[in-house]
Amino acid sequence: MEKDKLLMPVPKEVSFTGEKFRLDPSFMMRTAGKSSRLNSYATRIYRSLSDRTGLFFLQDNVSDSDTLTNAKMTIRFDRTGELKVNENEAYELKAGKEGVTLTAKTDIGAMRGLETFLQLVSADKDGYYIPGVMIKDEPRFTWRGLMLDVCRHWMPLDVVIRNIDAMAMMKMNVLHLHLSEDQGFRVESKVYPKLHEMGSDGNYFTQDQIKYIVKYAAERGIRVYPEFDVPGHSVAWLVGYPELGSRPGPYKIERRWGIRDEALDPTKEFTYEFLGNLFKEMAALFPDDYFHIGGDEVTGKDWDKNPDIQKFMKEKGIKDNHELQAHFNLRILDILTKLNKKMVGWDEIFQPVMPKDIVIHSWRGIKSLVEASQKGYYCILSNGYYIDLIQPASFHYLNDPIPADTKLTPAEQKYILGGEATMWSELVTPENVDSRIWPRTAAIAERLWSPGSVKDVDDMYRRLEYISFRLEERGVKHIKNYEMMLRRLAGGRDIAPVKMLVDLLEPMKIYTRHRDGVTYLSISPYTRAADAARPDQKIPREFMKAVEKYKSDGNFTHLEPWMAMFELWGDNHAAFTDLAEVSPVLREVVPHSENLKKISEMMLEYLGLLQNNGKPSKELLENLKKTCESAKKTYGQAELMIVPAVLKLIE
Ligand code: ACM
Repeated sequence: MEKDKLLMPVPKEVSFTGEKFRLDPSFMMRTAGKSSRLNSYATRIYRSLSDRTGLFFLQDNVSDSDTLTNAKMTIRFDRTGELKVNENEAYELKAGKEGVTLTAKTDIGAMRGLETFLQLVSADKDGYYIPGVMIKDEPRFTWRGLMLDVCRHWMPLDVVIRNIDAMAMMKMNVLHLHLSEDQGFRVESKVYPKLHEMGSDGNYFTQDQIKYIVKYAAERGIRVYPEFDVPGHSVAWLVGYPELGSRPGPYKIERRWGIRDEALDPTKEFTYEFLGNLFKEMAALFPDDYFHIGGDEVTGKDWDKNPDIQKFMKEKGIKDNHELQAHFNLRILDILTKLNKKMVGWDEIFQPVMPKDIVIHSWRGIKSLVEASQKGYYCILSNGYYIDLIQPASFHYLNDPIPADTKLTPAEQKYILGGEATMWSELVTPENVDSRIWPRTAAIAERLWSPGSVKDVDDMYRRLEYISFRLEERGVKHIKNYEMMLRRLAGGRDIAPVKMLVDLLEPMKIYTRHRDGVTYLSISPYTRAADAARPDQKIPREFMKAVEKYKSDGNFTHLEPWMAMFELWGDNHAAFTDLAEVSPVLREVVPHSENLKKISEMMLEYLGLLQNNGKPSKELLENLKKTCESAKKTYGQAELMIVPAVLKLIE
């Protein structure tokens, strides 16, 4: 029963009984307990099951009002869950020959269980069935988040909504919206309308849209909390309200990426009056207990140059800019406390003067997470979950907020609430953002939900591939937009030659793309081969796996299937160059195609020799090495990902 073992995240306890509950058109579900959002959730799962199996289910809507004595699945819960940290999300799912029962303390726990139920659907020669199973499940961490930067590149409502759906599927429960930046202020303010009117190029969420997002997420057991990044990362605020700034205006919306010197003036009462009014307005819009104030990457240079700020610091005995930021943070904390909000901020707000009821969001290293928890501050981890860095899912998967060898005491560990995948959007647009979030974030979701002992990377990848299709089914566009982007690159022609190459490319990693002789701006095109290319490409990863297996046991059968691939890759170059003739946007990656051809031809010779127990000549090895060295270069801000495995094989 291969499909039975495709659950993601892996439940805390699961055992299969070998029985089968057969699905047929008479299958009906009912809830026991009053929760209209759970009825809607269950109805969506019921419809998905119908869509997936093609079975003509008869029930209109899942509800608790029907007298469905013949319902084969019953969902029980004790109470409506609250969208709060440490809310109970546990559930038990039992399936046997006669039917399915799902039991939870809260309707949110029942939602988590419904997602597991949908993942169980299996098929055999007799049709579709739910395998007999006993599952007892609950999350390891209470904070399992995704941060979406809707500022660097504007991410409209549909991006947010489809990603909430995908989060729910992966049992994630916090959406952190990064709403203000140098490049944009992305929410309507009725109190200070010049924020969105002058600071967003017209790209912002209306207050009605925010309410819709919050409600949509709440119906899926997901909290939504805002980040207004202050005092740095704030150029867009200053366009409409230059009097908030630390130097005289005028200011313009920033089009460049990177860290700016502009910052709010922490010495003016006007600043706090403004933030008090704005945060009051925003606190009402976002009912969550938490409110993120950013606080990262303040250079302090505009403060250094302002004589009034320098005078203020002298008078108050404030020694340096760190202390000045702490002074600012304490004032903001006062504002948020009066609004009944708990303050969250990036590493930089972790300063000794800050009281213990703030939350430290660790991004620069796990060190701040460890220190914060030792000092009794609550904290969440994003270092290691920066999905914009284009690292493989395996890297994020093994990044545990509390690793097995932690030195933290159990009491200290309690301060670590969980983590957030962070989707910064400098290099992504609504077209390709899903492919940067998914499916890798599913690996992070599993890290934050499943027991720490679940860490078999191969098994994660096996399940991730399947889950990726399920995520697409739920609505995210990481797969379908890939081919759309390739069609544009091919000028509407057959995409086969470009797909064959781009399947082997990944965008440059760890922000090196910004240092490759290209100046990316917010208005630049993000439609080139490097933008279509996806992180953690499967084919190069699997080729590396085959090489590693061959290296460990010397069995050529691991490599044999790849000979046909090298044949195809070698032949692809002619078709690719023909295409690049008529589609000039592709020309920047022609060198990759050419290197792929050269490597493929030599690899065919090399593998042919291995197959026949022959020995490659020194000359062939030298040439392969030389070509690989040249193929390690980046072209079009993309890397040819099969090179490391070829080098490993011949070393
Ligand atoms: C950050 O990445 N500047 C929080």
